[in-house]
Amino acid sequence: MIKACIFDLDGVIVDTARYHFIAWRRLANELGFDFTEKENEQIKGVSRTESLNLILRWGGVEKTEAEKTELAARKNDWYVDLVCNMTPSEILEGVVAFLDGLRAKGIKIALGSASKNSMTILRQVGLVEYFDVVIDGTKTTRSKPDPEVFLLGAQALGLPPSDCIVFEDAEKGIEAALTGGFHAVGIGEPEALPAAKFVIPGFAGITFEEIVARL
Ligand code: BG6
Ligand code: MG
Repeated sequence: MIKACIFDLDGVIVDTARYHFIAWRRLANELGFDFTEKENEQIKGVSRTESLNLILRWGGVEKTEAEKTELAARKNDWYVDLVCNMTPSEILEGVVAFLDGLRAKGIKIALGSASKNSMTILRQVGLVEYFDVVIDGTKTTRSKPDPEVFLLGAQALGLPPSDCIVFEDAEKGIEAALTGGFHAVGIGEPEALPAAKFVIPGFAGITFEEIVARL
């Protein structure tokens, strides 16, 4: 019996995954290298610090801890500039209707995101009041694919993972959900999320009941 839905934020509720890509790529370019959208799939869902470590490895660049702190802050400043201009029009198609449907049925709604900018983004697009629980990067110590973020969400909801569906656009996020014992639904292209039992392109034209029937 599904009693809650836990949503990743970037790439599931809003299209900020592309803003992360733009800002990380700008940083890599300043350091004299580039990375591809395919490589980018590997850092989706991953914390800021771990993303930077992976990107530096791709570029074959070594930095001290102090330099890494400065680089992560530089990327975040660019990212925050992008998200501070967001409007509710950047909420992905079908999300608001889906959330309204959950509300009407009494299904709990939680956020499970690695981003420390989650609250800024939710406020910016006017979605804060939908969420019964918000677990974000300010509350976690381990990055996806560790299931911590979702387990904290289930705990705060007072539910076992088996009563919750996790919606994720990242391979590492699907892995985190499955490791934690959650139902996991992929958002995006099936080829990018091979571990997900099923993948939907987004929330447009699909109901909670149709998703539950396919679990
Ligand atoms: C995740 C994104 O939601 O949050 C990652 O998918 C990002 O790309 C991570 O690195 C951390 O986000 P932030 O906003 O704290 O740098
Ligand atoms: Mg995501």
